[in-house]
Amino acid sequence: MEFSEVIRNRYSCKNFSGKEVEKEKLDQILEAGRLAPTAKNLQEQHIYVVQSEKGLAAIDKVTPCRYHAPMVLVVAYNKNNVFTYPGGKRDSGIEDASIVATHMMLAAYNAGVDSCWINFFDPEELARALDLPEEEEILMLLDLGIAAEGTEALPNHSSRKELAETVTYL
Ligand SMILES: Cc1cc2nc3c(=O)[nH]c(=O)nc-3n(C[C@H](O)[C@H](O)[C@H](O)COP(=O)(O)O)c2cc1C
Repeated sequence: MEFSEVIRNRYSCKNFSGKEVEKEKLDQILEAGRLAPTAKNLQEQHIYVVQSEKGLAAIDKVTPCRYHAPMVLVVAYNKNNVFTYPGGKRDSGIEDASIVATHMMLAAYNAGVDSCWINFFDPEELARALDLPEEEEILMLLDLGIAAEGTEALPNHSSRKELAETVTYL
């Protein structure tokens, strides 16, 4: 698919059919995350592919936003392996994991897999439920699946500010 088509047409799917994601497509999605750039090339991300009944139930306990997706990627990062920026107030963890997640979200659409980025949950509660290592922080969840028939993008998908509102030339 054309890159411009991917970024224009990808939308947040909030109604999955439950149809499985093929292994080959999952591999393409994970590979796109693997190729993402990270600060100092630290690659501190860790992706958990959740598709077991037990894992999905743990996710349903912390968020109402799985929308029947048959698979959820939990994107985490190792908080002890991040680059602290000059000034000492911020580090690369959230940004690096966000870039990884964005690559995977776009790769999913390119592969014909629908997705939804989810942050409506308590990351610490989920990390405990999934028994993640202490040093790993969860950034987000990526619901993955095939949209149920008739599902369309929500109206706000096509409502974006004009460039003049968000870009300033200095
Ligand atoms: C950082 C982020 C967090 C989001 N969290 C949630 C969420 O927890 N639950 C949900 O249903 N949608 C969530 N979304 C999806 C947004 O609601 C959706 O992206 C936005 O309304 C724009 O629609 P579009 O993605 O279809 O263009 C999230 C999106 C982003 C980028």
